[in-house]
Amino acid sequence: MNIQDIIAKKRDKQKLNKAEIEFFIKEYTNGSIADYQASALIMAIYINGMDEEEIANLTLAMAHSGDILDLSELGNVVDKHSTGGVGDKVTLILAPIIASLGVPVAKMSGRGLGYTGGTIDKLESIPGYRTDVSEEEFIRNVKNIGISIIGQTLNLAPADKKIYALRDATSTTESIPLIASSIMSKKIAAGANKIVLDVTYGSGAFMKTKERAQELADTMIKIGKLANRKTVALITSMEQPLGKNVGNSLEVIEAVEALKGNMADDVKEVVLELGSNMLKLAGKGDNLEENKQKMLENIQNEKAYAKLKELVANQGGDVSYIEDTSKFKKAKYILPVVLESEGIIKELKAEEIGKISVFLGAGRIKKEEKIESEVGIVLNKKVGDKVRSRDIVAYIHANDEEKGREAIKRLQEIYVVK
Ligand code: URA
Repeated sequence: MNIQDIIAKKRDKQKLNKAEIEFFIKEYTNGSIADYQASALIMAIYINGMDEEEIANLTLAMAHSGDILDLSELGNVVDKHSTGGVGDKVTLILAPIIASLGVPVAKMSGRGLGYTGGTIDKLESIPGYRTDVSEEEFIRNVKNIGISIIGQTLNLAPADKKIYALRDATSTTESIPLIASSIMSKKIAAGANKIVLDVTYGSGAFMKTKERAQELADTMIKIGKLANRKTVALITSMEQPLGKNVGNSLEVIEAVEALKGNMADDVKEVVLELGSNMLKLAGKGDNLEENKQKMLENIQNEKAYAKLKELVANQGGDVSYIEDTSKFKKAKYILPVVLESEGIIKELKAEEIGKISVFLGAGRIKKEEKIESEVGIVLNKKVGDKVRSRDIVAYIHANDEEKGREAIKRLQEIYVVK
């Protein structure tokens, strides 16, 4: 078997068999297949697609490219994953709430991909927070305090780690077979037996329509069934960014505020929808409305906030930043964005805002690039809000003044007011 034949087969719209898919994953993970060959195959998959059997084989091969964690001693462990978004700080809020209600959360998260942010980049903006813990420590943390959020540094789905970075650099992200296999391979390897998926659609999501999001959700649910993991998927809108802040430490700050009871309505809706389903899956109650009430209670009594602090401290982070978020390093320039028009905001495209955020330095253009955790955008006004002439609708947080000025112009064009 050789990789050229496999690339040619997919290029010519033929179906790949299990052995060919396993060969590709094994040989790419161990370095025998070059990045340029893998890129060609990934692009062929992106263009020509895969059927259900190919997607299942790809997912299982990726999941088995490294270790598969056995978390059975922890009981019902629930995991959550989003298909990506802009301003999506849901994990940072949701995971501590669920853990504070006695359901173990063992979560392996990703870095930013394309114009979407990643939970690991956000957590790393907290000085000292270690995302690269060992498997033993990951399991110990979940056992001891009921929660751990780590990066993809363990030997879990290493094939996905390589392919994910490659896709980011080759514009091959928005593909159902590639997203489904990426997410589900990580979820299977990370060991949770219950999975809740947040499948986003709209401008800031990889799936632009609700129908495509449903197709992706159905694909992942089928894979979950095959792998014996109870999987629930919710479809949520990512037409405009979620919440107020876009950028790494800016989103941590918003998450801390949310856990202190000051949560934007759109964020709250997603957090409660996902969380109530996670509690149901974990056997903590079938009534979703009651589950939402339990979550709100643990925000009000600050148990969820306390759990976030415990998580941060347990993974080496400096909790004083969570207790006093004004300690986070600030961008050099904080520039107001003023609109001349008057009326109601009709549109605020999340994808464009994600791109501005990457341009400011909050995300990567090349896979090895460092990010600037303090830059980003704070949105004062969003879709449905009224604006008067000369209102400040947002602030740009930039370390480079010229980039900041350009970001203002781009943002002014994105706000559609009628
Ligand atoms: N999140 C992932 O983990 N993988 C993708 O491909 C997209 C979003």
